[in-house]
Amino acid sequence: MRQAAERAIGRRRDWRITSSLGKQHEDHINSTLDDIEARFGRRGRAAVRRAAEELANTYVRELYHEVIKLLAPLALSVGRLSEGVANDVTPRAKLQQETATLRERIDRLRNLLSDMRAFTDMPKLQFAQVSLREVTDEAASLVRDANLQRGVAVGIEVRVSEELTAEVDRGRLVQAFTNLICNATEAYEGLSDRAPVVVDGVQEGGRLSLTVTDAGCGMSAEKLNDAPLLFSTSKRHGTGFGLPLAIKIVESEHLGQLKITSAEGKGTCIEVWLLREQGD
Ligand SMILES: Nc1ncnc2c1ncn2[C@@H]1O[C@H](COP(=O)(O)OP(=O)(O)O)[C@@H](O)[C@H]1O
Ligand SMILES: [Mg+2]
Repeated sequence: MRQAAERAIGRRRDWRITSSLGKQHEDHINSTLDDIEARFGRRGRAAVRRAAEELANTYVRELYHEVIKLLAPLALSVGRLSEGVANDVTPRAKLQQETATLRERIDRLRNLLSDMRAFTDMPKLQFAQVSLREVTDEAASLVRDANLQRGVAVGIEVRVSEELTAEVDRGRLVQAFTNLICNATEAYEGLSDRAPVVVDGVQEGGRLSLTVTDAGCGMSAEKLNDAPLLFSTSKRHGTGFGLPLAIKIVESEHLGQLKITSAEGKGTCIEVWLLREQGD
């Protein structure tokens, strides 16, 4: 009884999220910490908590910098607009142009926050034996539709055999491949040679590998190093969450591996290794 009460107090000290929305998350975190304590003792619990806090702080700091980076030009735009409205001499066309810039900057902020929200989602995973042809076909068709709307014209060829299956969470894997195929098609921006993006797959014993290969701009060694980092983007409208989310889905959620090989000016190959069965 007393132990339970002590634990309850300890828990409350561990993690307290004030919003009622956060209550469920708080319970989840605390129960994970309880499990860790049961296995690794109080020191284990404290160490995991510190590491988790450090990670959380890093994310918050990074986000702060990214939001500030977007807020500064937004504030500039507003300043110019209100000056223009007040002085009565700024031509209407100029005001309209400034309004468009303002809208674009707000959209960028919104996209960043919504990609970040999607990245932090932790859905309950549902594993089942799934056809990887279906997964990659669905991802390809999502990217084709999005590209059609944006006027990006790059072919996507899915060559994955119908026989390839693995125990995966279908929706999450579709999301990962959508991000990878989307990046592959975006790598052709400004290039006239547009060999199609190829999605292929092979099986090797208990594992299988799916590849997304493009002949787009490729990456320098430095860019390749930065690409998997949150907020790292080389695109005007990019947010830098696509690749990190794909890595998280493949490596943390499916215990697989994602490898990137790239040559600047030649293209990129993303290789995703998956277990055929998740095991215990
Ligand atoms: N297939 C690719 N070819 C070339 N560069 C890529 C490829 N995939 C990812 N990258 C690089 O990695 C960066 C991060 O990708 P991502 O996390 O999806 O963010 P975003 O697409 O929003 O920029 C991209 O901006 C790009 O520079
Ligand atoms: Mg992307």
